[in-house]
Amino acid sequence: TTYQWRVDASSPRASEIAEAAKLLQQGETVAFPTETVYGLGADARSDEAVARIFEAKGRPSDNPLIVHIADTAQLASLAAPYDGLTARLMERFWPGPLTIVLPVLPGAVSPRVTAGLDTVAVRMPAHPVALALIAAAGCPVAAPSANRSGRPSPTLAAHVADDLAGRIAGIVDGGAAGVGLESTVVEVEGDTVRILRPGGITAEELLTVAERVEYDDVAAPGASSAAAVQATIAPMETRTSNERKDKLHVQARSLVDPAVSAAPRSPGMKYTHYAPQGTMELVQGELPKVVAYVQAQGSAAGARGERTGVLAFAEHADKYAADDVIVMGSLADLATAAQGLYAALRSFDERGTQRIWAESCPESGIGHALMNRLVKAAGHRIVRV
Ligand code: TXA
Ligand code: MG
Repeated sequence: TTYQWRVDASSPRASEIAEAAKLLQQGETVAFPTETVYGLGADARSDEAVARIFEAKGRPSDNPLIVHIADTAQLASLAAPYDGLTARLMERFWPGPLTIVLPVLPGAVSPRVTAGLDTVAVRMPAHPVALALIAAAGCPVAAPSANRSGRPSPTLAAHVADDLAGRIAGIVDGGAAGVGLESTVVEVEGDTVRILRPGGITAEELLTVAERVEYDDVAAPGASSAAAVQATIAPMETRTSNERKDKLHVQARSLVDPAVSAAPRSPGMKYTHYAPQGTMELVQGELPKVVAYVQAQGSAAGARGERTGVLAFAEHADKYAADDVIVMGSLADLATAAQGLYAALRSFDERGTQRIWAESCPESGIGHALMNRLVKAAGHRIVRV
């Protein structure tokens, strides 16, 4: 059985946190809220505890885990001394949705956490429940998102229970997670921050601290088989920050390059990290054309007896006539779409929607991370109309 505690997100009671922390100390797995999504935690130093995470999620063992800390003092036992840009990133963005890949101290964490790499990904979450739990456990806490592998990340305790009840020791329910998408994963090289996974901290924000920011999400271990996709991707597009135009560059490979949509490939297991059970296609273009395309495709699918769905922005929802029109959030406030995306994907699964068309958004700010997740949920099926 899985214990559940319903706690106050802003000031959880010490007694409840102590119970959950005790399970972590005993080598068990406990799910908890963070400001991004719910995580499934275990003592990062214990092979046995970390193995339970992989087993509960059905996660491939070659995908390393993020280690969560409650204060920077915990870093001394995890990573080699750091300075410069790494220290500035921590000062500016911790606690918060930024994960930094650092050289790991030998033996500091279970090799299962790092999947055999000589680096460890670390973050300090900005959520009172997460911070209290990690501090009470008194150990670094390895925690991937608390979903079954291949399912959308959980933004509510109910999502965790749907996926993992009976498979984990406990769930601390602190209500809705914040950002709704995972943390930004970066590595630092000299004055450059390289984004391995876009997320809650945007490139624009990183540029307030770093001289250069580059995107390289296909280089992340979790996306290692993306080489095939990379081959179809056009040269890097360069954007320039207005504030410090002379010095700063964001090099962003467009995630929705036409070359990719011209040759949609069947998704490999490693691409469909966030896939709904139905087949999803990401549609790009001017709104009237998108609506007409979805209408035509939807009618054809309906005639075949398939249940159809549209993942839409609130502003456009009334333009579609599918069986299930689900709103992810507002196009005018993409933070709301980030918060709503994963719950929307889950609701297609609940309704048994078989064919889904998703709207696209501009790739600036949090829109970049949102599009990254939409592309993955669509298994790289992208159509330009
Ligand atoms: O917001 C988040 O980051 C959430 C919450 C729970 O903190 N966690 C999360 O964990 O999203 P997970 O396991 O779903 O994603 C971890 C990502 C993967 O893309 C993994 O490949 C990358 O971090 N990662 C972990 N260790 C790494 C390392 N040493 N080097 C490069 N990438 C690493
Ligand atoms: Mg995950």
